[in-house]
Amino acid sequence: MDKKCQRDGNISEFMCNLCPKFGMMAHIIKYNTEDEEFEWAVCEPIEEYSRVSANRFKQLSLFNDITPSVNEGDIKIIELFAGVGGFRIGFERASDKFKTVWNNQWEPSTKRQDASIVYQHRFGSAGHSNEDISIVPVEEIPDADLLCGGFPCQDYSVATTLHNSKGIEGKKGVLWWQIQRILRDKGENAPKYLVLENVDRLLGSPAKQRGRDFAIILSSLSDLGYYVEWRVINAAEYGMPQRRRRTYIVAYHKSSNIARQWKGESGDPMKWMLEKSILGVAFESKVDSKKNTRSDFTIDGDLVEVTENFNKSENGNAASPFGTAGFMADRQVWSVDVVSTYDGPCITLGQIILPDSKVPAEFFISDEEMPKWTYLKGSKSEKRMTKDGFEYNYSEGSMAFPDALDKPSRTIITGEGGAAPSRFKHVILTPSGRYRRLMPIELERLNMFPDNHTVGATDMRRAFLMGNALVTGIVERIGRVLKNRM
Ligand SMILES: C[S@@+](CC[C@H](N)C(=O)[O-])C[C@H]1O[C@@H](n2cnc3c(N)ncnc32)[C@H](O)[C@@H]1O
Repeated sequence: MDKKCQRDGNISEFMCNLCPKFGMMAHIIKYNTEDEEFEWAVCEPIEEYSRVSANRFKQLSLFNDITPSVNEGDIKIIELFAGVGGFRIGFERASDKFKTVWNNQWEPSTKRQDASIVYQHRFGSAGHSNEDISIVPVEEIPDADLLCGGFPCQDYSVATTLHNSKGIEGKKGVLWWQIQRILRDKGENAPKYLVLENVDRLLGSPAKQRGRDFAIILSSLSDLGYYVEWRVINAAEYGMPQRRRRTYIVAYHKSSNIARQWKGESGDPMKWMLEKSILGVAFESKVDSKKNTRSDFTIDGDLVEVTENFNKSENGNAASPFGTAGFMADRQVWSVDVVSTYDGPCITLGQIILPDSKVPAEFFISDEEMPKWTYLKGSKSEKRMTKDGFEYNYSEGSMAFPDALDKPSRTIITGEGGAAPSRFKHVILTPSGRYRRLMPIELERLNMFPDNHTVGATDMRRAFLMGNALVTGIVERIGRVLKNRM
């Protein structure tokens, strides 16, 4: 590689001679921190590289090309919407039987593919795909035992179409249909197990026909031969350092061992959900006695009919029939609201923060900036003006300020990075009596990622990547139960 220019002090840019055809830039990044010293090279995935469509080309291996050695009895995983590898970390921590053989990550909103770069840096580029999943042919995806991924929350409605020989079509760009396409086209070689993650509001979307989107997901999985369990899990309620509520979905094909275990217990769906299912065992819980939300119903019709009719009410305000725990087999749904009964140790925000001596000055909030933070965090009731000059009343309650150190943190959001004052960024009062924002490494700890997992990206992007990621301890718990039951 020929040296080209210096950037950011510790990052140098080079023309990459591994792939001169595409004229790509490569970075050699040298790090020398107190705990770690390393050097790595990465081709910057510029537009032509990441947005491959017509001129598709084979991914080049840029790092240690570590193909995981898969042994007899190992559980092969494909990880979609991989981000920086939260599922991989969780599963591989649960057992060395879990081997991620292929993964896909492509960020549509940026030229520079930070998540893909971090992923390859940490896990190698063998089996990594940095392309829009919707243009990846199914033949390029290896067969595996388990498919996992945190798919984006979108509108899953289905319309009839004359162009599609199957008669129905999900909306273009809706990524759920990519999971469905892979499972459908792989046919009998499709993974027998699925572990998926999404936001908690998935169960109640869209607002005018609550639960419709989740009913579409359940129906499409049922039509592909899967039984499905789900749980809304707040990581902090199981001892983890962040209050992050997400819907976790575990599905198993009818021909799998776990489906057979369900058939043995099928007389008692409530017992299955709470005590015997994968999520029931992984996340101890009991029925929420304050809510009376038990439901038992079937989802009827094809996907177009589910789109049009599911939970339709005259005034459009019927509550979602999906509780925080549930199970579906052959379109029959059982569901209930549950609460955690975990009573083990808990990690607090205060336990994961770095000492002030390790925190650069820019993370501390100056006296001049303090009034802006106080205003944004505070409660307010005031008159505001729209762009068109229309005056309206605006009010909101106050946010915790500073964030409590003796509790798990609030949810990390993608806008957590950067020095600009904000209502939602975390601010702590350190033992030395100074206010400061959280460091990228602390955000990683709140998601239970290894320290410095995202190093190499800017602080702003590191915060973004953690705002998108999951709490890996949740996946680890699922993996520990799953591996013994598959
Ligand atoms: C909710 S995040 C998942 C984060 C991941 N679980 C982690 O631990 O970092 C969804 C990911 O899907 C990626 N994505 C969005 N559209 C995509 C597409 N069309 N093809 C592939 N990946 C996509 C995003 O860049 C994002 O990283």
